[in-house]
Amino acid sequence: MIRLTYLSQEAQPLSADELLALLTQCHQNNTGKGITGMLLYGNGTFLQTLEGEKALVEALMAKIAADPRHGSINVLKQESITERQYTEWSMGFERVTEKTLAEIPSLRNFGLRNFNAEYLRNHDEVIEKLLERHRAPHWDPLIRELDARDKLIKDLRAELAHARNNSEMAALVLESVVEVAKNGRLDDAHLEMVRTTLRSLR
Ligand SMILES: Cc1cc2nc3c(=O)[nH]c(=O)nc-3n(C[C@H](O)[C@H](O)[C@H](O)COP(=O)(O)O)c2cc1C
Repeated sequence: MIRLTYLSQEAQPLSADELLALLTQCHQNNTGKGITGMLLYGNGTFLQTLEGEKALVEALMAKIAADPRHGSINVLKQESITERQYTEWSMGFERVTEKTLAEIPSLRNFGLRNFNAEYLRNHDEVIEKLLERHRAPHWDPLIRELDARDKLIKDLRAELAHARNNSEMAALVLESVVEVAKNGRLDDAHLEMVRTTLRSLR
């Protein structure tokens, strides 16, 4: 398999309708070919990563390069891979806006005006940051929040189980002391066992 990333400039601004048609086409075609990836679009610029079998990605790239919806194409990177990064997307999509950029803390000084072929060609690290948050599995802030809640609930369950266990042990300590005291058998060995148990509860 290979992963290929390119940059291009739109021929003319795409309406929401045209974008939707483009993405529908991507989803339909890519699913059948086992192609996954991500397409970012903003400031008249496309940044796309495609991954899949080499021959299929190269054939698609040739088609894309000839597409009149955009102008000259700059292939930034083509690499052999054994694992995909965008397993969840037949073609993920995001419109790059000032707002989406503000959500990436490491790109605080990167403005939408810099989302253009010339700037990005010379700033590999920015491309990485832009693409990385869409990689499987946790790119979506909502999913990250749900995951954080899942973890909190799991931790609370563990705390609760621990507390229940402790109270069970404490009850047993009390019951055993009452029991043996009633029978007049509260000896040193028993007291030591009680002490050890109490220590473990603290
Ligand atoms: C920026 C951009 C990205 C594209 N990405 C894809 C893609 O991921 N998959 C795809 O099949 N076509 C993509 N296309 C469309 C292709 O250029 C081409 O129109 C399409 O593959 C032709 O499909 P068809 O052979 O089913 O008619 C893209 C076009 C543009 C302008």
